[in-house]
Amino acid sequence: MSTTQQANDMQKNVREGWQDPSIAERYARAEAATRPYANIIIDKASLASNITDHNCTVNALDFGCGTGVVTAALYDIVPKEKWSNVKVLGGDISPHMLDYLRGRGEKNGWTGLTTQIVDGADIQLNNNQFTHIFANAIIFFLPLGALEKLFDLLQPGGFIGLTTWASFGWYSYVERAVNNMSNPPFLPTFSEIRDSLQKGNAWHEPAFVKQQLEETGLQDVELVVEKRNVECGTPAQFCESMMMPMTIVSGHWKESNRQETLKEVMSELKKVMIEEAGGEEGMCYMQMEGIVGVGWKSMKKAKW
Ligand SMILES: C[S@@+](CC[C@H](N)C(=O)[O-])C[C@H]1O[C@@H](n2cnc3c(N)ncnc32)[C@H](O)[C@@H]1O
Repeated sequence: MSTTQQANDMQKNVREGWQDPSIAERYARAEAATRPYANIIIDKASLASNITDHNCTVNALDFGCGTGVVTAALYDIVPKEKWSNVKVLGGDISPHMLDYLRGRGEKNGWTGLTTQIVDGADIQLNNNQFTHIFANAIIFFLPLGALEKLFDLLQPGGFIGLTTWASFGWYSYVERAVNNMSNPPFLPTFSEIRDSLQKGNAWHEPAFVKQQLEETGLQDVELVVEKRNVECGTPAQFCESMMMPMTIVSGHWKESNRQETLKEVMSELKKVMIEEAGGEEGMCYMQMEGIVGVGWKSMKKAKW
């Protein structure tokens, strides 16, 4: 299989993976990795003080919302009596993620929440409508033009906050699992996986993230680069949440025996995680390094 074919297969598998009916339940645990960065974005957006002190209203897009970690972080910092000031559109390519988020919103009383299928590769939303756009752990999956489109969706004075990964901690565990096998499958290097995932764009480099935000026209661009040691549940739970990363890895294997190889690697991975956690009921941890980039459309804070 050629490298281009592998990259295409992997992109296709990732896209299909988000359509898996079990994706939301499996993904929910991965919020442990994305929540710290969602909190940073929400903090940088200065939402709480503007709503509480100036009675501002928010019309936000949680883009690539997944199970709604950013929406949850937003509602968490707004006092309940001000929730009527908040409107959030959860947009995602996966209907299962949106179902999950809708249920979460109903359970928590987030009455300003609506959801809609939004494909980042072809965004069909009206321009100049959102005060805030949050794109936590999504932008690197998309063609570069997606950020420009997000910028267009923003009202003057609006805010964009996004997160990319400088590194993700699961690779070393998968590498250990593969190395333990008597007949190991080909394991692409960490940078090969990252490059095909990011379509060769350097979203893992702070300078690139800053450049993208500034070239799009955002002002007062700020970056926060932060490492977090994330609790990922028991070995079984960790392996469950590895569905999407393993889709990326297995995209590099021949389709004919992909599922069988995947099963074998997952079985080894579970052993590695049991060893790490000190038993089946112990906790697994993973080191993540996120890059949060934020910026404002001109007429800074005119509405905010
Ligand atoms: C890594 S998850 C991040 C979810 C959430 N923002 C978080 O921080 O936990 C990526 C999300 O982007 C969605 N996604 C992937 N490709 C997309 C696309 N082309 N357009 C919109 N959403 C997409 C996936 O369905 C998934 O929910």
